[in-house]
Amino acid sequence: MPVNRCICANVTFTELKKLADAGIRDLDELSRRTGCGTGCGMCIPYIRVMLATGQADLPVLTSKQINQILAPLSSS
Ligand code: FES
Repeated sequence: MPVNRCICANVTFTELKKLADAGIRDLDELSRRTGCGTGCGMCIPYIRVMLATGQADLPVLTSKQINQILAPLSSS
């Protein structure tokens, strides 16, 4: 089953990607506008991956996999 939305706020990563593509790339701002990530918080690492990769349909990832995806970006 793909991970493709914030279940708590019922916001798809496709919707978030559209906002990101329009220039809203800050997670806090996305949360303010849509409510994403303000419930259980489980979607937050996936939203970060979506912002980094542009992929709105993600497989279930371990925290190690998420860190491997995001690490090169945080060191630049
Ligand atoms: S799934 Fe996004 S806050 Fe719970």
